[in-house]
Amino acid sequence: MSDIVKFEVVNKIAWVSFDRPEKRNAMSPALNRKMMSVLDELEFREDVGVLVLTGEGSAWTAGMDLQEYFRDTEAQGLKGIRQSQRESYGWWRRLRWYQKPTIAMVNGWCFGGGYGPLFACDLAFAADEAKFGLSEINWGILPGGGATKVAVELLSFRHAMYHAMTGELVDGKKAADWGLVNESVPLNKLKERVEEVCKVLLAKNPTALKATKDAIRRVGNMDYDEAEDYLVHMQEAANSFDNEGRKEGMKQFLDEKTYKPGLGAYNRNK
Ligand code: ACO
Repeated sequence: MSDIVKFEVVNKIAWVSFDRPEKRNAMSPALNRKMMSVLDELEFREDVGVLVLTGEGSAWTAGMDLQEYFRDTEAQGLKGIRQSQRESYGWWRRLRWYQKPTIAMVNGWCFGGGYGPLFACDLAFAADEAKFGLSEINWGILPGGGATKVAVELLSFRHAMYHAMTGELVDGKKAADWGLVNESVPLNKLKERVEEVCKVLLAKNPTALKATKDAIRRVGNMDYDEAEDYLVHMQEAANSFDNEGRKEGMKQFLDEKTYKPGLGAYNRNK
């Protein structure tokens, strides 16, 4: 039997997998609950510096489970529906604001509700062979659960409209072209590429990374002055968590001349 969600931590990378390959990793209420508890368990572990979300088998995730998430919860009435929404939206929200940097490693199918965790991850890398689709229109609903919002956030108006209205699939390459993911590489190179990016992130100051990822998500809805103000205060708040890191960064550049910030991160192990 598959575990629904599984994880392992190797060299500061938490590899978290949707693990229902026999159901193409469709998100059931049980999966959503387990994912939240796995995120809880990993978020503040000292041996975790970055989290990668991937899928077992041929899918990243085939979206919401039509049987267990829709039909079964609808049979319980509004209480069941709202509870299952809270559980899925809950872990996506948790992931959007996660303490550690997060990467979606999209190995295969990614449908509908899958766009929630896709957007929740800070970065996304896909296999060329992956297939993305807002298939809701194909079974008679609108792309809910935030999927429409994700399309509009990440795609041009024309691409978002076409993608949502036709339900047509795009592969990893086109998804990268459209901005749905950062990059697409052949499936057999995907893990290697993601590991490379993890190493880059692991070399950075973790307080600065959290402040940066939150800032990128927050400022989009602010006008310039609000953003300027928010960023001043966020940096000052970050300094109260880790003021030594940036001082060390300045020292290694200005006094010791051991690195150039334009070309890479300061040595955090000094
Ligand atoms: N919900 C429930 N069960 C699912 C889902 C899903 N989203 N996706 C796959 N499954 C189940 C199938 O019913 C099947 O179960 P069974 O073996 O008990 O019959 C099993 O997973 C394997 O699925 P197949 O369709 O046989 O796999 P295949 O590899 O041929 O196709 C594909 C994969 C294209 C992903 C197909 O399963 C599919 O179209 N799934 C639905 C995708 C979708 O539209 N998701 C909903 C998006 S909208 C939303 O999330 C709100």
